[in-house]
Amino acid sequence: MYVFLNDMLVPEPEARVSVYDHGFLYGDGVYETMRAYGGIVFMLDEHIGRLGRSAGFIKLNIPERDFIRATVYKTIAANKLSDAYIRITVSRGKGPVGLDPELCGETTYVVIAREFSPYPKSYYRDGTKLILAKTRRNLIGAINPKIKSLNFLNNILARIEAKERGAHEAIMLNAEGLIAEGTVSNLFFVREGVLCTPSEETGILDGITRGIIISLAKRNGIDLEEGMFRPADLLSATEVFFTNTTSEVMPVSRVDDVKYGIG
Ligand code: PDD
Repeated sequence: MYVFLNDMLVPEPEARVSVYDHGFLYGDGVYETMRAYGGIVFMLDEHIGRLGRSAGFIKLNIPERDFIRATVYKTIAANKLSDAYIRITVSRGKGPVGLDPELCGETTYVVIAREFSPYPKSYYRDGTKLILAKTRRNLIGAINPKIKSLNFLNNILARIEAKERGAHEAIMLNAEGLIAEGTVSNLFFVREGVLCTPSEETGILDGITRGIIISLAKRNGIDLEEGMFRPADLLSATEVFFTNTTSEVMPVSRVDDVKYGIG
């Protein structure tokens, strides 16, 4: 496999990043995950836009949009991929230890791509099991969840809880106990015929798949509420699903001990 590293494609074993890279030392950087269908990257401009917004939050310079576009397609072509998983990572780069971003010279820019391995069909047919995690989502005023950063420990802690309890995904509440989002996904549920999803103010990533679902709901006249919800609101839901780039729309058959029908 080939990896795009900084300014060129290199074979994967040669794609090495310094142990002094601040992405490695401090999680100082941002990333995006994308999917290609038949060689076309879905919502590429939206993903580049969000990468830019994440980078803006942490005052990180990222390459120009055209460069990113071109390198994504070069990486797909070099690996002869059609249905692919693609990830762009930009870190602060190599520098001496210390938190000051100015210690680093050039940012590190990486594009990796591999064939997309789909989730089991049974997940879509029978639904998935979710838990409500004890780990709370990062505060907007601490590490804003809108930043898709390399610092993913908050999500990893909740994912460990999910794994320990045999679940596919964990729902995280914010500090006030309102439903926020999954560890790598946004949550939707249907209650009294209304499609509900936590509003951005709860402190979530503005998922690109979430945005598509919201615009499809609006276009199709489906009642939608982007709101503030508590776990009790999930009890009266008739349908639950989560969304992200890799899973698309994934039905949920259980949250903790509560069962749901598959829509
Ligand atoms: N994760 N919320 C979080 C915390 C996420 O990490 C993601 C995406 C989403 C959904 O966003 P989108 O619809 O744009 O994929 C919501 C990706 C898949 C990842 O981390 O690889």
